[in-house]
Amino acid sequence: MGDIAKIILNGNEYEFPVLTGTEQEKAIDMRTLRLKTGYIAFDPGYANVGSCQSAITFIDGDKGILRYRGIPIEQLAEHASFVEVAYLLIYGELPNEKELNKWSAEFTEHSMIHEDMKNFFDGYPAGGHPMGILSAMVCSLSAYYPELERVELTSMDFRRISVELISKVRTIAAFSYKKKIGEPFVYPRSDLKYIPNFLNMMFSSPNRVYEVQDCVANALRTLFVLHADHEQNCGTSSVRMVGSSLANLYASVSAGICALWGPLHGGANQRVTEMLQSIQQSGGDVAHFITQVKDRKNNTKLMGFGHRVYKNYDPRAKIIKQRTDVLLNKLGIHDPLLEIALKLEEAALKDSFFVERKLYPNVDFYSGIIYRAIGIPVDMAPVMFAMARMAGWIAHWKEMRDEADLRISRPRQVYVGHQQRDFIPMEKRG
Ligand code: CMC
Repeated sequence: MGDIAKIILNGNEYEFPVLTGTEQEKAIDMRTLRLKTGYIAFDPGYANVGSCQSAITFIDGDKGILRYRGIPIEQLAEHASFVEVAYLLIYGELPNEKELNKWSAEFTEHSMIHEDMKNFFDGYPAGGHPMGILSAMVCSLSAYYPELERVELTSMDFRRISVELISKVRTIAAFSYKKKIGEPFVYPRSDLKYIPNFLNMMFSSPNRVYEVQDCVANALRTLFVLHADHEQNCGTSSVRMVGSSLANLYASVSAGICALWGPLHGGANQRVTEMLQSIQQSGGDVAHFITQVKDRKNNTKLMGFGHRVYKNYDPRAKIIKQRTDVLLNKLGIHDPLLEIALKLEEAALKDSFFVERKLYPNVDFYSGIIYRAIGIPVDMAPVMFAMARMAGWIAHWKEMRDEADLRISRPRQVYVGHQQRDFIPMEKRG
């Protein structure tokens, strides 16, 4: 018999089974808590709640470990293409050569968006945030795929809508940038791979051919692989939560984009660059900024630092920091923001405020400097995150929908409002 957890409430003892994951993670199975005791578990922010069992991504935040389907992130960042990682996350195994070629060809085949959708871009003001546009566009895509409404998708249907989504977000993202800068849209090309195709749509124009440099494509590939999944974070949990109502994949992912947009989550990469710019504009005084962060009255955070799960250096940040150096050297760019970031990290890692709270650079701390070097505008940084995260969201949505005992996500609350009271007619209200 497995381990048992006991809860004693008002003198009564209740037993709950203990679940053990493949990496020896332990959980108390509380599914019968309310039924047995009448109590609920209270945990705002869900820091201690496991919402599902998942076989996709493993994180050990104390040791700084991240693996997709068991494979260390360091190996994937070195060797795998984004399209290959998407397959791994969604289907659970690395594709063989034939499977990968077929999968890649499907991405090329489905990269166009419906011509009518181009008109949608006209409705947005030039300053509209690209995450708002991406989320609305992804939800709007649902209108073009009636099969999405079927609760039971065939494996072919699922594969097609997944490929369409991952492929088309890249076109939508690039089109929203072109709209913003007032240039004509550049269509996807069938001779280009996933990342070069995106770069070409972003930076080519009728009078300018953008030559995709290998170092740029490789830096972006690495970022996409690193961002592709991160288990039950706010965005992914939103996708699962929306999908648990049997909402379609595109509607669920659209919710994930909105959750990711927040500055505490994927929107942090934009805020990091803005923070570095603001420190630079005010003279580059890193020590002063750190003092401001430590003075809680200021409500200032060191953006790109800290993590709910990592209480050690985020393994993704380690890789990104190293790749930032390589890219900037190759491009011959000297970015003063990188210098500020390095000084901030150095100061924070030896300051007791950050040491005691185990605050280290996270995935968003250095990524913005790579985007800047490539020419991707600061407000598109969260969009880049979202494009890569599509792979993980689709994998989680599928895993959730395949659960034999799928239940709608529906947390409880502890009500702290008024007790029952009577309606007061208008003439008697003060
Ligand atoms: N700067 C200054 N203080 C911080 C920071 C920070 N970046 N992060 C956490 N703290 C402090 C926090 O105020 C708290 O202090 P105290 O115990 O004195 O009240 C302590 O550290 C613990 O933090 P927390 O807020 O309880 O941690 P959390 O798990 O609720 O929040 C977080 C995690 C990522 C939201 C938070 O660290 C943060 O706001 N970081 C800055 C935003 C950021 O970089 N987000 C990107 C996260 S990685 C991308 C992704 O979402 O996957």
